[in-house]
Amino acid sequence: MTLMEKILSKKAEVGVVGLGYVGLPLAVEKAKAGYKVIGFDLQKSKVDMVNAGHNYIGDVVNEDLQALVKEGKIQATTDFERIMECDTVAVCVPTPLDKFKQPDLSYVINSTKDIAKRLHKDMLIVLESTTYPGTTEEVMLPILEESGLKVGKDFYLAFSPERVDPGNIKFKTKNTPKVVGGVTKECTEHAKALYERVLQAQVFTVTSPKEAEMTKILENSFRLINIAFINEMAIICNKMNINIWEVIQAASTKPFGFMPFYPGPGIGGHCIPLDPFYLQYKARAYDFHTTMIDLAGDITDSMPEYVVERLSEILNDNKKCLNGSRILLLGVAYKNDIDDMRESPALKVIEHLEKRHAQVIIHDPFVPEFSHNNKKYYSSPLTKDLIENMDAVVITTGHTTVDYGFVADNAKILFDTKNVTKNMRTDRKNLFIL
Ligand SMILES: NC(=O)c1ccc[n+]([C@@H]2O[C@H](COP(=O)([O-])OP(=O)(O)OC[C@H]3O[C@@H](n4cnc5c(N)ncnc54)[C@H](O)[C@@H]3O)[C@@H](O)[C@H]2O)c1
Repeated sequence: MTLMEKILSKKAEVGVVGLGYVGLPLAVEKAKAGYKVIGFDLQKSKVDMVNAGHNYIGDVVNEDLQALVKEGKIQATTDFERIMECDTVAVCVPTPLDKFKQPDLSYVINSTKDIAKRLHKDMLIVLESTTYPGTTEEVMLPILEESGLKVGKDFYLAFSPERVDPGNIKFKTKNTPKVVGGVTKECTEHAKALYERVLQAQVFTVTSPKEAEMTKILENSFRLINIAFINEMAIICNKMNINIWEVIQAASTKPFGFMPFYPGPGIGGHCIPLDPFYLQYKARAYDFHTTMIDLAGDITDSMPEYVVERLSEILNDNKKCLNGSRILLLGVAYKNDIDDMRESPALKVIEHLEKRHAQVIIHDPFVPEFSHNNKKYYSSPLTKDLIENMDAVVITTGHTTVDYGFVADNAKILFDTKNVTKNMRTDRKNLFIL
């Protein structure tokens, strides 16, 4: 049976390397579509959880994972020898920036080496991790071809960006259109055939992996630049005593040519703060400076400090200073209703507050505890006593489960950077917005 026949008849054994926010939902969808899935991860704790049917990713339905594990449709392992059993492998490992803000492709390289050692004829490899254009062909392909096997003939290689938006109720892995670009036409066709059998969404093909890699960078740079722009608008609106949130709402009534973005304490997550800088790095090899991305990064990076500066002004107007103040931070996750804290701007807000000798207390219903800069933080219960005892409360994540009316009723000062208090009385003297 050829690989294409195995894909079409769902007889292909499907591997997913990296069982995180991207990999686990993808593994579950592939298993739900009828493929037998083997998930690979370096972390034994994740592997054990999957095998026990214990879900740890918000976008995965617990009962789905339990049922698939029970049926033997999905299993996880730390044993990379089992890649040999796979007909297709999706690579969903992290692509962070190093401490010099340069791409760290070590996870992609290491997992590619793991696959290369077990590469066999008629195998499809798809990279899903976000990266700069050229990674699939310039970094992965040479490692895979060291096996002596030839791409397009012996095995197939493609890039397909993952677009999952953790916490999104409407769009999940299953119904989000997918872009696919293979090294050869055959590579694209095999990857397309697989995704078409798994997803209920369009599979759009592009000429090569580079176009697919750049598509993801374009999408996230677009978001970064627009978020930076709206933050700049928020700063100038504040100076002019104009309510930015009302302006955005009004502009959104235009049925064409406008798309709302919202200001906040900065940007977070594994994507928008990182992906555009993969392009910035790669562009330098072409003597090109990604001016828009650099500028947008400067603006969004400055937002946590701006929030603390604004809070300082608000306290000052109330005859208080930051030094020695008790500040309750509402939300440390990078966006509402999830527990993901990666690159969360709230962490930077904490740093700036503590640098200015404020005492920071946290409440986040999704994050009971966390460590940052070797210090442990615990979420305090959101009681009337706690709120009343604070000099100010700052909303940094707009979790929908928090009773903001209760907070506003009891806080001396409430600084809302997420506009979650929009429906509250405008004449509240203790309420301030970004
Ligand atoms: N999280 C998102 O919202 C999102 C959305 C779209 C794209 N992406 C991209 O997808 C990729 C993965 O992101 P994520 O959020 O799922 O990361 P994650 O950290 O949640 O998961 C990655 C997993 O890979 C495992 N891993 C690392 N090296 C490995 C190796 N050599 N072999 C096997 N497993 C290995 C880690 O242990 C971890 O469990 C990144 O490139 C990211 O930019 C993420």
